[in-house]
Amino acid sequence: MSGHIFLKTAAMVLLFVLASVVHAAVVHTAGDAAAGKVQVTACVACHGQDGATGLDGSYPNLAGQHEKYLLRQLQAIQSGDRAVLLMAGQLTNKTEQNLADMAAYYASLPAKSSQAVGEDEQVAMAQQIYRGGIARKDVAACTACHNPSGTGNAAAGFPHLAGQPAQYTTVQLKAYRENQRVTDATYGGMMRDIAEGLTDTEIGALADYIQGLR
Ligand code: HEC
Ligand code: HEC
Repeated sequence: MSGHIFLKTAAMVLLFVLASVVHAAVVHTAGDAAAGKVQVTACVACHGQDGATGLDGSYPNLAGQHEKYLLRQLQAIQSGDRAVLLMAGQLTNKTEQNLADMAAYYASLPAKSSQAVGEDEQVAMAQQIYRGGIARKDVAACTACHNPSGTGNAAAGFPHLAGQPAQYTTVQLKAYRENQRVTDATYGGMMRDIAEGLTDTEIGALADYIQGLR
């Protein structure tokens, strides 16, 4: 009954890794990190000078995140496909080139690791889900796309998760589950499919585990 989710996951990963190889040959807006640095003067107020010290746990680390993923999110936030109230107006006057440059800039900064959190028992449960999924609920193993160490996959555009504040990750997993975050549409809704099977307790444990990954 559960073999298919693993086959499905393997097929999806292969598809997007192959697609990204093909995509590399297609003309797209290439980001320039030096030009991006000049564009982020307003961003540092919330995301920190180093791109990884947000005001509190609700602000994601951007430093070391993959360029392709960052650009897709900036486009979605700018168009309103991903609603981020606090960023209203921040991207209004930015061109496609500005977005690409900012994505390149944040991708070029070193990723920061965070303090481990969570009870040992919960973290062990989360590790099991992260590495093995939950077959009976069709939850695919996170490892398949985000790597055992949480570094994601730059070419495929699978985000780096390691060190992301638990509070931020909890909000995102619930938003996918409730169909409020739909930026995974490009990927066939795969994160919504996965989050659908997760309880609040499992989401909390996974978020703690991800914060401590390095
Ligand atoms: C007033 C605070 C604030 C400012 C200023 C701000 N952001 Fe954000 N940003 C946020 C918050 C809060 C989130 C998380 C929203 C959520 O929970 O979905 C976020 C999310 C993001 C994300 C998504 C990260 C991910 O992992 O998916 C990116 C990319 C981003 N911001 C880039 C920027 C850039 C570039 C600027 C400057 C042009 C900027 N932000 C300015 C508050 C801010
Ligand atoms: C088949 C590939 C795949 C699997 C398996 C997968 N993910 Fe994802 N994940 C993605 C993709 C692609 C995105 C970006 C989607 C988007 O743009 O919204 C993503 C986004 C995320 C985000 C949002 C990151 C951010 O910065 O906002 C979190 C958190 C996340 N995944 C956690 C998990 C967890 C936890 C699991 C396992 C229970 C998991 N993922 C399994 C492909 C996958």
